[in-house]
Amino acid sequence: MKMRKKIIAGNWKMNKTAEDSKELAQAIKLDLANVNEVDVVVCPTFTSLDTVSNVIGDTNIKLGAQNMHWEAEGAYTGEISASMLRNLYCHYVILGHSERREYFGETDEIVNKKAKAAIAAGLIPIVCVGETLEERESNTQEAVVSAQLKGSLAGLGASLAKVVVAYEPVWAIGTGLTASPEQAQEMHAFIRKTLAEISDQATADGIRIQYGGSMKPENAAELLSQPDIDGGLIGGAALKAPSFVALVKAAIEA
Ligand code: PGA
Repeated sequence: MKMRKKIIAGNWKMNKTAEDSKELAQAIKLDLANVNEVDVVVCPTFTSLDTVSNVIGDTNIKLGAQNMHWEAEGAYTGEISASMLRNLYCHYVILGHSERREYFGETDEIVNKKAKAAIAAGLIPIVCVGETLEERESNTQEAVVSAQLKGSLAGLGASLAKVVVAYEPVWAIGTGLTASPEQAQEMHAFIRKTLAEISDQATADGIRIQYGGSMKPENAAELLSQPDIDGGLIGGAALKAPSFVALVKAAIEA
């Protein structure tokens, strides 16, 4: 089996002023500046990107944004482009998070346009997929996730290899409920199979698939030791340095 480097990303969501973000970034940096067994990413709000970028500097901690627009520039009031993110030394951008899909009407088509623009600008997209509780209860989770993957990742060609996929069951986000390691592994294997259908087996074997949804230090080791779970996209537990650091350490040991 191909070795995939695990990737732990903190999604700070709409939390923390620039000043608070600076503090958190400094605390994380104390412990994680030189980690290289695992890729470490922090994704603050747009208003904190510059500050956090300056704190992490050229340590091994990488910067990510939580969203972007697909156009390069122009009359799109309130939006931010991929090149603006690159200009602040962002390496990653989260796309199609379920909160963006649910509250801001993001469709697979929009996520796809953003993914293409991100890659063209040199950003690595973290593309989120995942079913709702209703969809899981009606046993349609595979059909839902398959459609999200095929729509969001359409037409990327060889660039698909650069993408990170995050499986985030909506019912587990911020709820304290976590998919069991078996449930998560089953879906991750299904995602990899679907990625192989979109591209080829070698490409699919190289793509990192993160789990997200109430991942915390207490449940991380078991999740991260599953064969197809290659990291985590962390919300709540990424807002405090000790738990984020513990998650990165769990990924190193997994
Ligand atoms: P959570 O959020 O860890 O707070 O459940 C995960 C996410 O939405 O990325």
